[in-house]
Amino acid sequence: MKDDRGHWGSKIGFILAASGSAIGLGNIWRFPYITGENGGAAFVIVYLIFVLLLGLPYMLAEFSLGRAFQLNTVGSIDKITNKSAWRYVGILGIITSIGILSFYGVISGWTLAYVFKTLFTEGQVLINDFSNFVNNPYYEILLYAIFLIFTALIVYKGVEAGIEKWCKILMPILMVLLIALIIYANLLPNSELGLKFYLMPDFGKINFKTIVAALGQAFFSLSLGIGLMVTFGSYLPKSTNMFSSAIYIVFFDALIALLAGFIIFPALFSMGENPASGPSLVFIIFPKLFAQMPFGNIVGAFFFVLLSIAALTSTVSLLEVPVSYFVDEKKISRKKIVWIMTIVVFVIGLPSALSQGTIDFFTNFGFIPESLTSQDFLSQISFIFGDLLLTIGALFLSIFIGWIWGAQKAAEEIKISGGKFYKFEKIWIFLIKYIIPIIVVLILISIFKVTGIT
Ligand code: PFF
Repeated sequence: MKDDRGHWGSKIGFILAASGSAIGLGNIWRFPYITGENGGAAFVIVYLIFVLLLGLPYMLAEFSLGRAFQLNTVGSIDKITNKSAWRYVGILGIITSIGILSFYGVISGWTLAYVFKTLFTEGQVLINDFSNFVNNPYYEILLYAIFLIFTALIVYKGVEAGIEKWCKILMPILMVLLIALIIYANLLPNSELGLKFYLMPDFGKINFKTIVAALGQAFFSLSLGIGLMVTFGSYLPKSTNMFSSAIYIVFFDALIALLAGFIIFPALFSMGENPASGPSLVFIIFPKLFAQMPFGNIVGAFFFVLLSIAALTSTVSLLEVPVSYFVDEKKISRKKIVWIMTIVVFVIGLPSALSQGTIDFFTNFGFIPESLTSQDFLSQISFIFGDLLLTIGALFLSIFIGWIWGAQKAAEEIKISGGKFYKFEKIWIFLIKYIIPIIVVLILISIFKVTGIT
């Protein structure tokens, strides 16, 4: 392997690193607020169907492309079609990862801030603190910058030393803490109303917006559509069973999101809060939960530390996408490109940081209509990059893998490492070639109709 390319130390290390990318704010911050905005249980069911039917098979497709050519997305596509226009699908993924990292970094900065806030602020004061906090741009932007610097330092060290080690320690601890919080939240008075909202589907609530949101959330949460799993697959040896790895990753990712919901909704209904309060939801509910809990300051700070690390393993993977492209294709040194990209991302994220009431222009930015997402710049960017472009990327990559490279060749790559994949091979090929592109196209067309872009 080339000098600046990394490789995974072990299969478990790879599963943990890919899970580390998948599990992050998307599960604990985004999933609950999107579920809250979209009416609860019915949304959760559509989301889980998309995860299984589209997310899991599509993840395998990304892995197979990466491992077959041991290159980033653009490099792998070039090997197949010799610098055709298809390479722009890889470039779209790079642009999307930069866009996602910009707003994701801002929320990660909030998470980091809440470590100190829960530890040092009196619970009752903290409850009403969110809007004061986001309206103090200096503190907010400083933490955003610090978070990006942490990310850069890890990516700078390379794949194995940087990403793998952290994920091994973090994941199990996070899961234990979530389960403890579930027990606590479900013992609160009226918490059963939250469980009802979360678990008893009212299918009348399924509409176009729910379906779009569920599709976006499924791909976002699994880190799909931007070629990231192509890059991760490219660091894999041929002996790793990608089929079982993908099942583990999808399972853990969905599990953590579902666990987060089992804390948030019971707590929220017990407190009489509104489930549809948008991106600020977990920053309001969790502090309230900790404020009434014995040792809440310590438990809360610990929770936000874990959430920050979960976010960090995702931001690291997001930054790895442009970095691996420039290292492989442009022969720029890893060290140099890491810092250049970090500065670019930082600047692009500033409007998101200023969009939660600080500057009116960004707070009511409103380019994508209200019927699809909130009007602040952060929500809009999250929708454009985290839902729209990511889904478009997944569409083109599945067409590329299914039809241009050939689903059969991808299936052969998956089969090299053995396992039970051969039993599902035919279904998988059918999903990649037909089902994924058709469902995604249908949803995209309807988005364009609603937004009036066509
Ligand atoms: N999957 C991450 C999360 O759920 O927090 C976010 C993310 C990371 C999205 C990497 C996309 C991506 F490529």
